[in-house]
Amino acid sequence: MQVVKYVFQPHGDNRGQLVSLEEYTDIPFEIKRVYYMYDTIEGVVRGHHAHKNLQQILFCVHGSCKVLLDNGKEKKIVPLEKPYEGLYVANNMWREMYDFSPDAVLMVLASEPYNEADYIRDYDEFLKFVGIDSGRNK
Ligand code: TYD
Repeated sequence: MQVVKYVFQPHGDNRGQLVSLEEYTDIPFEIKRVYYMYDTIEGVVRGHHAHKNLQQILFCVHGSCKVLLDNGKEKKIVPLEKPYEGLYVANNMWREMYDFSPDAVLMVLASEPYNEADYIRDYDEFLKFVGIDSGRNK
């Protein structure tokens, strides 16, 4: 599985840092939604789902967390700990976010508005969706 982590160029000067993100130039899709998580309780695992048709880029703009990516065949754990790094998560990818530092702010840029019908929240359904036989009924 190929993990796509964008490393953006901060515009730093003697006042501090600034990162700018433009759709189609820096972000490979039209940004239709932005959401962010903060005050995440220690030990919590978020996500636990995949999407049928949604691309996202995840940034830990403050603090740190980890993202588990699972395409049904392979899993990868990606730490997010720099505000200028963005993890691309395509559709068809099961994701879990965990190990949030108390100060973590996880910001997500999404290619579509919120649509509960786009979620796959059941892991066996996800495996079916990506064409993998979970073997449960054998
Ligand atoms: P949820 O999907 O449980 O978050 P995660 O999977 O990242 O742990 O979302 C939590 C709540 O927020 C749920 O009631 C749906 C709502 N929500 C929106 O209204 N809009 C959004 O863009 C998102 C991501 C969630």
